[in-house]
Amino acid sequence: MRLFTLALLTAGISIAQTPTFSKDVAPILQKHCQECHRAGEIGPMPLLSYTDARPWAKSIKEAVVSRRMPPWSADPHYGQFSNDRSLTQAEINTLVAWADGGAQQGNPKDAPAPREFTEGWQIGKPDLVLDTGVDCSRARHHPVHAFRGAHRFHRGQVDPGNRSPSGEQGCGPSRGALRAP
Ligand code: HEC
Repeated sequence: MRLFTLALLTAGISIAQTPTFSKDVAPILQKHCQECHRAGEIGPMPLLSYTDARPWAKSIKEAVVSRRMPPWSADPHYGQFSNDRSLTQAEINTLVAWADGGAQQGNPKDAPAPREFTEGWQIGKPDLVLDTGVDCSRARHHPVHAFRGAHRFHRGQVDPGNRSPSGEQGCGPSRGALRAP
């Protein structure tokens, strides 16, 4: 009898722990993915709703386990970055358990209100906007071009000039914006 109860308890726990999109996954996507994965941004597909994300469950799992997503190539050797967008191990585990557990939606009432985005520069009103002199494909990999000659700045952002993920065509000139400390 005791064994039986234990088995029931364990089953109960594992059901309760399978993450759902609404409760567990949506907040992570809002925080770490949607700035790029929404219409008009560089991510190849939107990840705003359950319908958006469901077909990508397995790819999301692979992308976060390999830490390809979210892209973050700053070297931790140089210290902590306040805008570090990497996922915590707990967040990765949640996305993996969601994909492995059948990518359930859960109760839509559990979902957070949609995140609001500011269009244009995300760093507030820049004090200086520079043309990088390089096209968007290069600027994406060498954002430092945008900031050449600027000695001290508090926040910076690179605008790739063209947000089409497939890139080459119409690759516009990129720009960098800076805010003073
Ligand atoms: C800074 C912008 C940015 C952020 C933030 C970002 N992505 Fe992406 N994502 C991209 C771009 C650009 C691509 C297409 C090129 C590539 O695959 O590198 C992409 C591709 C993907 C793909 C396609 C397949 C693959 O594995 O390459 C998946 C899945 C994905 N992202 C998931 C995520 C998830 C999940 C997050 C948040 C945890 C996230 N992304 C955050 C820009 C971003």
